[in-house]
This record gives sequence, C-alpha cells and structure tokens, in this order.
Amino acid sequence: MRTLTGIQPSGTLHIGNYFGAMRPAIEAQARGECFYFIADYHSMTTVTDPQERRRHTLGVALDWLACGLDPARSVFWRQSDVPEVTELAWILGTLTPMGLLERAHSYKDKTARGISPNFGLFAYPVLMAADILLYDTRRVPVGRDQKQHLEMTRDIAIKFNQTYGETLVVPEAEIREDLAVIPGLDGQKMSKSYGNTIDLFGDEKVLRKRIMGIVMDSRPPAEPKPDADRNLAVQLLRLFAPAEVARDFEERLRAGGLGYGDLKKALFEHYWNTFAAARARRAELAANPDHVEAVLREGAERARKVAREVLGRVRRASGLE
Ligand code: ADP
Ligand code: TRP
Repeated sequence: MRTLTGIQPSGTLHIGNYFGAMRPAIEAQARGECFYFIADYHSMTTVTDPQERRRHTLGVALDWLACGLDPARSVFWRQSDVPEVTELAWILGTLTPMGLLERAHSYKDKTARGISPNFGLFAYPVLMAADILLYDTRRVPVGRDQKQHLEMTRDIAIKFNQTYGETLVVPEAEIREDLAVIPGLDGQKMSKSYGNTIDLFGDEKVLRKRIMGIVMDSRPPAEPKPDADRNLAVQLLRLFAPAEVARDFEERLRAGGLGYGDLKKALFEHYWNTFAAARARRAELAANPDHVEAVLREGAERARKVAREVLGRVRRASGLE
C-alpha cells in the first residue's frame, strides 16, 4: 500500500502544513511504503525567482528530514528530477475535460487573489494527477483544501482506464478531519499566502512576537468566557499541549481569572518545545547540504524506476508503443 504526498517549495512551511499534511504522512511510514516529493514544477506556477525556488527547495527538504522523514525507509525526491511526470501529465491532459479544470477552487481562489492566470496554473491539477498516478499510489495524505484535486485525480484515472483499459491505480485522499484546517493567527485558514502563519521553524524572538501579537477581544481577565472552547489560542494550544493541559487552560478561561497574555505565553512555550528535537536535527542537517542533495538524488533514482515502469504501461495501453 503506497502512500505519497508532495509540498511545493513556494514559501516557508508552517504548522498548518505540518499537522495537515506532513505529520500524517510521516506517521504513514510505520504502516507501509511512503513516497514524498518536493513539488518544484508546481512552484513555477507562482514563483519566478530561481534563487527563491532553490532556497525553498532546500528548506522544504530540511523540514521533512528534521520532522522524521526517514530516507532509509522512504523515497524522497525533487519532482523535477523525474521528468517522466511531465509526459504523463500531457497524456492525462488529453483526457481531462475543460469543465473539470474550470471548476477547480484553487485556480479560482488564486486568480481572485490577483495571481495572473497562466496555462500552468490552470493545468496544475493535471500535473498533480500525474504526480500521484505515476507511482501507483493508493493513499494521499493532504489537508482539506486538496480534496478537490484528489477527486479530479480519481476522475482522470478512471477516464484513462475506461478509455485504454485497466492501467492506473485509483487513489484515495487521506484527510484527517480533526486537523483538516488549522486556523491561522487571524482565525482564517493558516496559509502562506494570507500572512497569518506560525512557521514550523524560525527565529525564536520573531515567533514569540507573532504569537504574543494574536489579537483577542477586550474583555478583562476576570470576566468569565463562556466561549473559551472557540478561543484561537486554546484551539492552537490543543495541537501542542497534552489534552489535560489544554483543557485546564480552557476551563480557567471559561471561569474567568486567566489573562490572554498568560494564555498566549503558554501557547508559545508549548509550541516551541514541541519542535525542539526537530529544530536541533534541522540545524545539523542544514550544516551539511551535500548530504541533503545526496538523499534527494538517491530518492530520485528509486522513484524513477517506478515511474518508468508505470509510464511504460501507460504508453503501451494508449498505443504510443
Ligand atoms: P499554503 O496554503 O500555505 O500555500 P500549501 O497549499 O502549500 O499551503 O499546502 C501544502 C499542504 O499542507 C497541503 O496538503 C495542504 O492541504 C496542507 N495545508 C496547508 N495549510 C493547511 C492548514 N491551514 N490546515 C491543514 N492543512 C493545511
Ligand atoms: N497541490 C499540493 C499543494 O499545493 C502539492 C502537490 C502537488 C501534491 N502534487 C501533489 C500533494 C501530489 C499531494 C500529492 O499543497
């Protein structure tokens, strides 16, 4: 049972990425074979600065390895090191109805936010389908915002199989509903494009300031807060603190007497400690970028073997060979 997921090197990873996609994917290593890649071709739809792409590609690689991706057990590579994916994307594109792409939320959201639409952005779900189908993937851990892309991938795989005979594995999304949407500092979905993130790794002072800067209402500390369970800092604290600790803070807030400043301080401490071990590992890895590069290259070789086999099947089924 193969699990696969990818993250774009289009910015600094945040705790929404971690809880929504990375942690479930890393946990899947205990259950079976895992494939992880850095979606650098995808990042070209929005990032056009080569230095920025290189920097974020290394950053995302470090983040995954620091968080527990084990390259001895799993396959980890840079998407563009297996260019077969673009051939499959072309083939799948010829079976993808325009209407399907026109309904894509992410395309509509991105253009609504002012990103000028290019063909790559429009065709993005086809490349994502190719990412998944090229490796006979069964399960894809992602956040809820990727659900529609997974449905499109399934539709495209089914269409291929109907047109050319059973060839492709039809995958399933793995969405942890309890963690599907991590809220950002403004209460909206945490996203690097909304400027409301808590970074997974970064400078302590800056991150403390961001967390202490979460805007709350103006009720005084003594006032009981019957809506304590919906408080943003409480919601975030649940991600980092043991359940009973988070519940205790929630109760104290509900009863009155706990100030928002103390709550946010506790949130910062728990957040910071959660990633202490990973932070140390990341610093070690960052000192040795050649090792990271070697891991990605070796991963690409392993991924490519599977890719060639599946693409061969696709080419034969469709009469290219
Ligand atoms: P962003 O919205 O910051 O640009 P991406 O679209 O690059 O994030 O997402 C990478 C992965 O992280 C995807 O699987 C996505 O579903 C997941 N993800 C992103 N933001 C969140 C969030 N706030 N809550 C849960 N999962 C998220
Ligand atoms: N579209 C995903 C995102 O923006 C990244 C991605 C590309 C991906 N290809 C994938 C995720 C294949 C899972 C599987 O977050």
